[in-house]
Formats: sequence, structure tokens, C-alpha cells
Amino acid sequence: MPNLSQLLTTKSSVEYKRVFEHCRDISNELDGVDGVYIVGGIVRDLILDRAPGDIDLSVVGDAKAFSQELAARTGAASPDESQFLTFKIRTSGIFSDVSSIDVVTARAESYADSAALPDVSVSSIDDDLKRRDFTVNAMAISLAGSDWGTLVDPNNGFGDVMRKRIKVLHDSSFVDDPTRIFRAVRYAVRLGFKLDSRMNELISKSIANIDRLSGTRVRNEFELVLSEPNRVEMLRMSEEIGLLAAISPGLRIGTKALQVLSEQSESDSVELPDLLAITTFGLNEDEANQVVQRFDAPPASGESITGNAQLAKHVAVLDQPNLAPSEVAEILREIPLASINAYILAGPPLPRRDKLVEYVEKIRFIKPEITGDDLLEIGIPQGPIIGQLIDVVRRAKLDGKVSTKQDEIELAKSRLPGFLAK
Ligand code: CTP
Repeated sequence: MPNLSQLLTTKSSVEYKRVFEHCRDISNELDGVDGVYIVGGIVRDLILDRAPGDIDLSVVGDAKAFSQELAARTGAASPDESQFLTFKIRTSGIFSDVSSIDVVTARAESYADSAALPDVSVSSIDDDLKRRDFTVNAMAISLAGSDWGTLVDPNNGFGDVMRKRIKVLHDSSFVDDPTRIFRAVRYAVRLGFKLDSRMNELISKSIANIDRLSGTRVRNEFELVLSEPNRVEMLRMSEEIGLLAAISPGLRIGTKALQVLSEQSESDSVELPDLLAITTFGLNEDEANQVVQRFDAPPASGESITGNAQLAKHVAVLDQPNLAPSEVAEILREIPLASINAYILAGPPLPRRDKLVEYVEKIRFIKPEITGDDLLEIGIPQGPIIGQLIDVVRRAKLDGKVSTKQDEIELAKSRLPGFLAK
């Protein structure tokens, strides 16, 4: 096996190097630790000279004692023990490049059923690599003093990195874990790799298993796609291989939405609700509701998906000339901002667009100065009238009929003179 020690030293930042060296020292000093490896994406990224993400370590032996010692030496808090023999060391306040170090006990996994969580048992590094998704993610580099830098690559991931291909380790990989279909798309596009020739066949055979994933898992995977800089290519590929339709039959990405997303891809600052609203632009109400249901989406995400169809029902009214700002506000009040933004970007260039822009930039910020307390003070009784009166004042303010706080109070007084304190 080649020795990649140079990747651990010259190609890694000071912080990564420091962690690797702690690992080497601990493995030398701690009884019960028979091997320590960096595994998965970090190995792939170091070979490709891409900035690696967080550090994934696989420990053969006592991973708990190892991770406690590593946390102590890096100055981090005691690790969180998550699922089976997995430890997370949070280093975000300590390092700038590395926000966490995940330590797993080298294990074998088996799947009793498609899309179920795997059964896990402690095992060797080779078995730990065998349970993984793709050959390029199934390599490890030893950090132990005796064989520091040795590549462990029983599935020829190194060859596949050179050939630029994404290949599963075995034919039932997507059946075991259908989230790997999303992952295949992400890695192929992100790395500029091709899917191995058999992958399309394996994907079509197992695509129906997407149905077996929980809403949260499907949504997480979909949102990970949206969070990538190359999301447009990934969405195109997802559509091509039938992944979007497998998520929900009506889910598709319109040409206009793709165009808008490609214009935005350069910027990382687009928020998730905006991305969801643009991606689902053009879905009708039923289709949008089905997607929300399938994603088991929390309210904020759900609204961004259904908001487009809701807006589409009322938006034509905004083409009317001479519409008062208060009427614009009335129409748009219940529509999520992300859906309005999506319509501005992807909707037709009709007069409504100017009204939407005016609403987003100006109208929605206009609020009356008076409060409920001011109204109580002039004698209006506690209760729903207060809110209704404030709404009257808000409309007047939107339409420029009142400007100062005193104007607002006078208006309120004029509407219910019978209630006023003498
Ligand atoms: N893995 C897997 N099957 C999954 C999820 C993860 O086999 N469904 C394995 C892969 O070996 C992967 C590793 O667990 O490399 C870590 O997973 P993750 O952090 O999601 O991926 P990374 O490869 O680190 O990639 P990324 O750069 O996307 O974070």
C-alpha cells in the first residue's frame, strides 16, 4: 500500500496536522487502542487536494478512551457519545478549520431491511471500510506511529479517484441505504466524477426504495443538495435519474427556476427558505402540499414550498393600476417572504412584479407609531377593538393619509368618538 504521509504533513493545514499528531501520540501511549485512521471524505479530499471537511476517525479498540484523551489534548470539552460507540468532539471554539472530530469504533454493519438503520458490531478497519457507500469514500490512512501514512484501500478507491468515478462497493448498496442515491449525485457533481457504468442500472432498480425513507431523512438529503454551490447541476441530474419524482411525483424543477438558481449559484448567502421557494416554483397547490407532506417539513420550510401556489392564486390582482399600498399589503400579508422573492425572480415580467418589489422593499416595513397603550390612554376599551383600530391606522399610514403620531391618534379618535375619555 502506498504511504501518504506527505498528505498528513505538507498538504494539511496546521490545525489538521496538530490533530493527526495527537492521534499518533495517543495511539502510541494508550493501551487498548490497536489502530487509528482518518477515514472517508477527508482521505478522498486530501488525495484530491480539496479543502477537507471535518475530521472522521476510526479507532480499532477503545474509541471512548481515545476520544476522551484527544478531547483533553485539543482543549475541547468531553466528547458527546451518540449512536453506537460514536463520539463527537466539538472543536469550533478551538480551531478555525475544524468544527468537529467524529470518532467511531471500527465496526461492521448489516441491514435487516431496506432503509432501516443498520445493525452494528465492533470489527476491523477493513470491515469498517466495507460498510461504506462508495469506493472513493472507503479509504483510510493510518495515524498510528508504526505505520503513519499507510493507505488502507481494500476496494481500490484510489484507482477510482484517478479514474474519476463513483462506484458502489456492492450491488445492494442503494437498497440498504437509499440516501446513497442522493450522495451519488452530490459527489459526482461536486467532484466532477462520472457514475460507474453499472450505477444507473442499480439506481433505477432501487429508486423506489426512496419511499421507505422517513420524511426527515429525505428532506435532509434534499437540503444538502440545495446547500452545495453546484446545486443546479445536482438538481438536473436528480431529475434525470428519476430521483425528484421518487421523492414526490409532482416534484420537478422548472426551466425558469433552474435559470434563477444558476444565476445565484456563485453566492453562498442564499437562505434555505429562498432556495426551497425557488426550487419548487411552478408547483401547483396539490403538488406543493404533497412535497411538504413527504418532507414532513417544519412550518418554516413548509410555508416556503406552499407559498408559491398560494401567491399564484392572488397575484394577478396586483396588475391593476392605481392599487393603494394598503391593498397590496392586504393581498400579500399572509404570503411568506421567500415565496414573494421567488416570484420576483422567476415570475413573468408583468406590472405585479413592481408591486411585489415595492412590498418587499418598502410597504412591509411601514408600521403605525401608536401602540395599544396609546389607544387605552385615550379611552378605547381593552379587547379586539384595539387591534382593529391599529389596523385602520396602519392602512392610513400605508396610503400616506397620516404621517405623524399625532395624526395617527387623531384618526383613531375620529373613528370611535363615542368611546373617548372626556
Ligand atoms: N457514509 C456511508 N453511507 C452514508 C453516509 C456516510 O457510507 N449513507 C460514510 C462514507 O464513507 C463517508 C463517511 O461515512 O465518507 C462520512 O459521511 P459524511 O460526513 O456524510 O461524508 P463525507 O465523505 O465526509 O463527505 P462530505 O464531504 O460530503 O461531508
